[in-house]
Amino acid sequence: MVKIAPSILSADFANLERDIKKASSADYLHVDVMDGAFVPNITIGVPVVKSIRKCTGMFLDVHLMVDKPARYVEAFAKAGADMLSVHLEADHPARIAEALSIMGNCGVKRAVALRPITKAEAVLPYIEQLDMILVMTVEPGFGGQAFMESQLETVRQVRALIEKHNPACELEVDGGITPATAPLVTQAGANVLVAGSAVYGASNISAAIAALRG
Ligand code: DX5
Ligand code: ZN
Repeated sequence: MVKIAPSILSADFANLERDIKKASSADYLHVDVMDGAFVPNITIGVPVVKSIRKCTGMFLDVHLMVDKPARYVEAFAKAGADMLSVHLEADHPARIAEALSIMGNCGVKRAVALRPITKAEAVLPYIEQLDMILVMTVEPGFGGQAFMESQLETVRQVRALIEKHNPACELEVDGGITPATAPLVTQAGANVLVAGSAVYGASNISAAIAALRG
């Protein structure tokens, strides 16, 4: 069954606990960490993840849109992340491997993320050790952007690689997911759907989560 991961990027940060609790019928809570360098925007850091951990038992899916993420993996793991995604474009392959190895040592689940420009095959050096692959369906940096239909092919290709090399690995999509685009990505092979504006822009959040499940 498809999993829904509301992105708190579209929540009200002054009422974060309230907005997290409103999304409790979802499967994961998606936390977008942006450093103002890997992407132009700056959002959430380690202390916020630590505070979120205290107010919810939800599975924290932390998406690191930061340069040289190996530097921060341990801190986010200690803050209470359950899974960390590092972007393949954010460092040299040896340092991405190091980030994944630190995640393993810290006991958090391991994921890599792909910008739209990155080819599906880029996951191959890591795929056997991954718990999830995140395919961006917008250019990372901001919520509320239009879904890139051209990314459906990458989703299909990553699904084929997962089936071949590590069938237990999850496939998450992030960006522009709505009740209209959700069936397209699930048909292409995604099983975890991130949604920011489609969840937090709705007046009834649990109904919005149910609508994404289809
Ligand atoms: C964008 C973030 C997304 C964002 C998605 O860089 O990674 O998680 O919150 O927002 P929507 O669902 O509004 O496209
Ligand atoms: Zn994200």
